[in-house]
Amino acid sequence: MEVVIVADRHEAGGLVADAIAALVERSPAPVLGLATGSTPLPVYRELARRHASGRLSLATARAFLLDEYVGLPADHPQAYRSFIRRELEAHVDFAADAVQGPDANATDIPAGCAAYEAAIRAAGGVDLQLLGIGTDGHIGFNEPGSSLASRTRIKTLTDQTRRDNSRFFASLDEVPRHVVTQGIGTILEASHLVLLSFGEAKADATARAVEGPVTAMVPASALQLHRHATVVVDEAAAADLRLADYYRETWAHKPSWQGL
Ligand code: PGA
Repeated sequence: MEVVIVADRHEAGGLVADAIAALVERSPAPVLGLATGSTPLPVYRELARRHASGRLSLATARAFLLDEYVGLPADHPQAYRSFIRRELEAHVDFAADAVQGPDANATDIPAGCAAYEAAIRAAGGVDLQLLGIGTDGHIGFNEPGSSLASRTRIKTLTDQTRRDNSRFFASLDEVPRHVVTQGIGTILEASHLVLLSFGEAKADATARAVEGPVTAMVPASALQLHRHATVVVDEAAAADLRLADYYRETWAHKPSWQGL
């Protein structure tokens, strides 16, 4: 696992946009894994800037969302499919139907989850998966206790996650209890995992994910099992990392040909 400590979110956005641009350049059919919440926004803003200045096209790319709330109408502003339309698709040039999320309003949810897994497989799998981390250590909406082998399925949110996400809703009562999320096993099949973590509220979860034992109690610790996982953190989120100086040293002297 590589840990990159950056000065701020803006620097993180640039680094990850570089990795996405490099992928788009080398692959004829790049597949992105998209995260929602506030964490990936600096990346999406940077992709939009590069597209606006003619430096980046996502016309050949496909993308799959990590997760979706159950029970929100498709056009609800906090439905993750709407979020991605508003925050990313509206500002770049994905082809029509190139971006997909799990169908959390399917009448048969398990069948919808299986179809989603099949769609990811049919696209050739995810090349670069963006991830945020919850204050409870979740990735996607895989809450503590999620099987490290889990696949796309319905999950119940913890009270902590519902409280964390209530800032996007009029009240806590409006935050759905159920979600459909790619499983940890699904996420681990992406070729490159890029987890972003910003702010002091994420410091404890980040340290447990990166330097603690691999455990279902900290779903993000599953990244330790992946052969190409990059964790990009700001100084505040890096506060509890014991090997912070080593990560800084490694990054400062990384061969320039390597990229993320
Ligand atoms: P946030 O959420 O980006 O809004 O902090 C991260 C997550 O829950 O994965």
